[in-house]
Amino acid sequence: MEVVIVPDAKAGGELIADAIGALVNRKPDALLGVATGSTPLPIYHALREKVRSGALDVSRVRICQLDEYVGLPAGHPESYRSVVLREVVGPLGLPEESFMGPDGSAEDIPAACEAYDKALAEAGGVDIQILGIGTDGHIGFNEPCSSLSSRTRIKTLTEQTRIDNARFFDGDISQVPYHVITQGIGTILEARHPILLATGEGKADAVAQTVEGPIASVVPASALQLHPHATVVVDKAAASKLKLADYFRATYATKPSWQGL
Ligand code: F6R
Repeated sequence: MEVVIVPDAKAGGELIADAIGALVNRKPDALLGVATGSTPLPIYHALREKVRSGALDVSRVRICQLDEYVGLPAGHPESYRSVVLREVVGPLGLPEESFMGPDGSAEDIPAACEAYDKALAEAGGVDIQILGIGTDGHIGFNEPCSSLSSRTRIKTLTEQTRIDNARFFDGDISQVPYHVITQGIGTILEARHPILLATGEGKADAVAQTVEGPIASVVPASALQLHPHATVVVDKAAASKLKLADYFRATYATKPSWQGL
């Protein structure tokens, strides 16, 4: 996988927004997979700026969700559907119909998961999939020991992830659902270009294990090593435990410009 070390989160957001811009210029109806949480916000901000300034036309772009809480009432402000509408779809001026996600309030959850994988395939597959990473190495909500070939399905969040996410629920862990629907690791690996952004020291251990550790389901993000075109963008703090940091810096500094991200 390619590792790009950037000075800070803003630079990471701009770099990834540039890659999305290049994709949309060559494929105007690209399917863009989005993650929620704090990390990707600089990407969405940079993308919004490109659209606002007239530098990029995203009017035909389609958006798909990575994961969703199970059991939150429809329209709950912290459901990932609400978050993506608020942070991505709305600000980019896209119609709601351009957006799809798994149905976390479905009565038949396994059927909803299967339908979502089918919908992604029928939409032609995900072009760029933006990913964050959990402190425990999860991508999407594939918690440690998720099958590396898993499909979209229900998962139980670890206590640590529920603690990490309580900040979105007034700091009250009792409000954080136990269950989620997440694209599986197998599903994520089908995206043409997964791009993981990690920022802050709290992610440094997970990043080091993902990039330089063995492929192991106990660090779900390490499955990205199996992808022929996966990119990991990290700020200095998140890169602080990478043994090969100097090599990654030199590689990126001397990268032929025609290669893009
Ligand atoms: C959210 C998601 C998660 C987050 C991860 C990091 O859609 O898939 O994997 O990316 O929990 O969250 P933040 O960015 O808030 O640290």
